[in-house]
Amino acid sequence: MSGCPFIGRKYKLNELSLEDNTNEDESQDGINKASKGGLIYGDYLQLDKVLDAQELQSQKKGNKIHDEHLFIVTHQAYELWFKQILWELDSVREIFQNGHVRDERNMLKIVTRIHRISIILKLLVEQFSVLETMTPLDFFEFRDYLSPASGFQSLQFRLLENKIGVPEILRVPYNRRHYRDNFKGKENELLLKSEEELTLLGLVEAWLERTPGLEEEGFNFWGKLHVNIFKGLEEQFQAAKIKPDSEDKEEMIAELQKQKELFIALFDEKRHEHLLCKGDRRLSYKALKGALMIYFYREEPRFQVPFQLLNSLMDIDTLMTKWRYNHVCMVHRMIGSKAGTGGSSGYHYLRSTVSDRYKVFVDIFNLSSFLVPRHWIPRLNPSIHKFLYTAECFDSSYFSSDDSD
Ligand code: HEM
Repeated sequence: MSGCPFIGRKYKLNELSLEDNTNEDESQDGINKASKGGLIYGDYLQLDKVLDAQELQSQKKGNKIHDEHLFIVTHQAYELWFKQILWELDSVREIFQNGHVRDERNMLKIVTRIHRISIILKLLVEQFSVLETMTPLDFFEFRDYLSPASGFQSLQFRLLENKIGVPEILRVPYNRRHYRDNFKGKENELLLKSEEELTLLGLVEAWLERTPGLEEEGFNFWGKLHVNIFKGLEEQFQAAKIKPDSEDKEEMIAELQKQKELFIALFDEKRHEHLLCKGDRRLSYKALKGALMIYFYREEPRFQVPFQLLNSLMDIDTLMTKWRYNHVCMVHRMIGSKAGTGGSSGYHYLRSTVSDRYKVFVDIFNLSSFLVPRHWIPRLNPSIHKFLYTAECFDSSYFSSDDSD
């Protein structure tokens, strides 16, 4: 007996479509515009080019391997998304670079596009799982046909790293060679140009340096924070010292001492410069102050969008690290510890790239080390409070130094 409730009852399946498609069926309203000429879907998207671009090397060599199609489509999909990310990134850099960021209405555009990049990256992190449906044995069957092509030669991936701000000196060397040696002619020039241009990191740094409230002659956030932190720590030391002797007391004092050293280091500009030289910090001292200020006063209307931006920048770093991690796990599964088709040590090389060396906004992550009790955060005086609460244009002379705390 059939499982379909209509069969043998009121309707037959083929009658259903006929009888229900009466003139009252709104789903059938409309006109066939394609038949009238003009731009059609396939032409608009140039699908003839896109869908004709999957050439299986295995097939060309007379040994067609089914999974090579998936391998090609996956890489092409990645490259298309890289292209979109670069499109967004370039537009954001342009807004910063042309000073349009001074008009705070543009901040929303920046945050939206950076957020979009992070959503695309999320997709790319997950996308490896489609390729992982291919077994290592399937891959082995066509891998030799690809050599010496390798993802290492992905121009867009390198442009992306450079434009975000991965510094050349922190890159893991590849066969003791410069990464750019793998690119020739126009591609090499484009990479060189991307190294010389202002990076997203550099532009964000310049923007952070202008954070309202940092001026020493004005609100002087840094000076006030310094006073409050050491006063607060001293009070905590005194409170700990009058406790009866015990293991807890010793631990508490040791912990406070550690915190004190952390903050002495934070307020030591020379130490910051030293860490900058080592690559352990990436933002200028002034920009770091600005970032911390945005962190502390994130609830003020004027700092809400900047705070979101700092979070989205961390998302990008996190997702790029996850991309590297998922890629290296997949590579390990596919080729074990064999060398890559591009000539690197393969898994071992890639594993060394999953590191903070490639984290561009590492300073923003580290801000959380400097969080302090709410009552240590300098109280906003009326003029800066009003400024952060409203959306007028920033003018540093707005704050007078003699405003009371
Ligand atoms: C079976 C799948 C894959 C294998 C076995 C594989 C293998 C490798 C290996 C061994 C390297 C190191 C360079 C070399 O010596 O060749 C590499 C680098 C790279 N691959 Fe893949 N890959 C695969 C899939 C992908 C996919 C889908 C993408 C997406 C675009 C990709 C993008 C890259 C990039 C950008 C690099 C350079 C990474 C860096 O230097 O930090 N790979 N791949």
